[in-house]
Amino acid sequence: MTKTATAIAHPNIAFIKYWGNRDNALRLPANGSVSMNLDTLSTRTTVTVRDDLKENSLRINGQSADAAASERVFDRLREMAGFAGITEKERFSRGVEIISENNFPMGAGIASSAAAFAALTLAAAGALGLELSEAELSRLARHGSGSACRSVPEGFCEWYMGTGDRDSYAVSIAPASHWELIDLIAVISGTHKKVGSSAGHQMADTSPFQAERVRTAGERVDVCRMAVVNKDFAALSEVSERDMIMMHSVMMTQQEPLFYWEGVSLEIMKAVRDWREEGLECFATLDAGPNVHVICTAAAAPAVRVRLEKIRGIREILSSGPGGKAELL
Ligand code: DP6
Repeated sequence: MTKTATAIAHPNIAFIKYWGNRDNALRLPANGSVSMNLDTLSTRTTVTVRDDLKENSLRINGQSADAAASERVFDRLREMAGFAGITEKERFSRGVEIISENNFPMGAGIASSAAAFAALTLAAAGALGLELSEAELSRLARHGSGSACRSVPEGFCEWYMGTGDRDSYAVSIAPASHWELIDLIAVISGTHKKVGSSAGHQMADTSPFQAERVRTAGERVDVCRMAVVNKDFAALSEVSERDMIMMHSVMMTQQEPLFYWEGVSLEIMKAVRDWREEGLECFATLDAGPNVHVICTAAAAPAVRVRLEKIRGIREILSSGPGGKAELL
């Protein structure tokens, strides 16, 4: 017997960031966060459960995944099989094949875990015949990668920190069509990051600034949510840049310090602030890597792009508007 399902999901860029967990195993975040899905970037994942398969396999962009990635993914599958009431024996005797493809270049430094775990959760639920609510899918995606919970609902999303595992998931605060923002992603050539976000989250509390960042995060989430709902670009720029700089201040003061910015990342951030003062609606935000996401209004995007193209050290500029929810095909 064969059961197969394919799902597609988009990565997201956070305006208010997730950094640090109250519970690392469950990925219960230290604070709530707000993000936008990215329409033009996507991950497509097919989960096939077949009796004749002898062992589990995971291929990402045509290549066998390493042991660590496989373990992280098959852990999710075992959890979901448990959810479906499939017994331990059945779960392990059955071979599962997972094939995942990104439409964006690997090594471009675009975080793929959010889209990957959102697509995996939907495809696994489909293949296992589970009918789950969007909140449950978001919660399960969170177990794979925290930011993945925000790639399950559509458009602009808020991840509730919740009181525990059950109520920490993301909801849509506005559909993709609500606001025509553009994310111009300046892809920076740089070395492969040494410390990924999972390890970084676990050390967040070693920064003396994390407690203060977390204490005030709820206020920034409220301001950001209202800015999105009211399409108030000035308010969104101010709160998002401030929040991003606070997260990177924590990263840089952790033990070991994490310096994700390259020189050109800072150059772009400063240029973006100048352009905004000149009246162009744009702001910069960075995740756990050197790429700069320049968020702009659709009206400002062409002029911002022309200016970005003049900065040396940018390998490529990707462009995306707000994206839809994760979907079973
Ligand atoms: C800096 O969701 O990638 O991008 O849960 O360990 O997979 P894991 O971490 P991840 O962390 C993302 C952190 C961030 C900020 C954000 O997206 O909110």
